[in-house]
Amino acid sequence: MADISTTYLGLKLKSPIIAASSGLTNSIEDLKKIETAGAGAVVLKSLFEEEIVTEMERQMHQMHSQNYLYPETMDFYEQYDVEDTLTSYLKLIADAKKETKIPIIASINCISSHNWPYFAKSLEDAGADALELNIFALPSDFERESAEQEKTYFDIIETVLKEVSIPVSIKISHYFSNLAGMISKLSQTGIAGLVLFNRFYSPDIDIENLEVIPTHIFSEDKEYVMPLRWIAITSSKVDCDLSATTGIHESKTVIKMLLAGAQTVQVASSLYKNGIETIERYNHEIDKWMERKNFDKIDDFRGTLSQSNVKNPAGYLRVQFMKHFSNK
Ligand SMILES: Cc1cc2nc3c(=O)[nH]c(=O)nc-3n(C[C@H](O)[C@H](O)[C@H](O)COP(=O)(O)O)c2cc1C
Repeated sequence: MADISTTYLGLKLKSPIIAASSGLTNSIEDLKKIETAGAGAVVLKSLFEEEIVTEMERQMHQMHSQNYLYPETMDFYEQYDVEDTLTSYLKLIADAKKETKIPIIASINCISSHNWPYFAKSLEDAGADALELNIFALPSDFERESAEQEKTYFDIIETVLKEVSIPVSIKISHYFSNLAGMISKLSQTGIAGLVLFNRFYSPDIDIENLEVIPTHIFSEDKEYVMPLRWIAITSSKVDCDLSATTGIHESKTVIKMLLAGAQTVQVASSLYKNGIETIERYNHEIDKWMERKNFDKIDDFRGTLSQSNVKNPAGYLRVQFMKHFSNK
């Protein structure tokens, strides 16, 4: 058997396949299934910055009304028997650490560095092995300069890194005008990993009812080509691990991401569509492919088809259909 273990964010993983943050990573029951299926790690369903701030304000209000002083730490949670969002999340981490052996990556969706980052320490205290920050605000503000939009990322990273000592990764979108430059700069901030790329809830139009509706909640398998290109272009140029996400629905796509230079992949839609146990099949198929290709371990082939290592690096840069269908 080939060795499909890998490292990610300094953690030792049995498999390069991580269960991505989703509704399937929100309960101990599902986390156990994910572990049994052979995932390398799991990213918990995200807490939202707004949830943290709102809950903290509520707690603060309650404490002031009872003449408590506002605490610097989260110890005050122990004084309350309140099952709020934050305590439930901390309990999920603590229970997951007790009941599984799989690395647990906590996750926060955030758009600013205001008022919430000190809560990150509580995730570490609860036992999280790492923290993934999903940073994104749709660049839809007509007045905002792109430099200001980008600065938010660095502010968040700087603030959170001061709070925690566990590894931190950043999950980003591809909405940057100079994507390669941004990925490179982010990788130099002290973060341990970058997740390329998040996929978003998208609106559609229902032409019968004339209303805006959500669409395509789950990815299609062809969507992997976008992260594949950018993993390949950036993997040998960044100072942190890369994890690929979006459109990974087959074991051969996992292999492609590793060949492009990813340390790990993160899957959500395929687990919804095919069941959590599909991870076991992916692991098995990766193992079989490695045996067929005479690779003993993932590092024997990781990154061998990154842009820096291929004979024709321009293949990853081509964007126009110069020759295809030119006569039709
Ligand atoms: C139902 C659902 C819920 C999700 N919730 C989160 C979330 O809370 N935080 C997050 O960072 N990503 C979330 N995602 C995004 C996934 O983690 C993943 O990055 C994305 O779906 C692309 O992977 P896929 O093509 O395998 O689905 C969610 C995705 C789905 C489908």
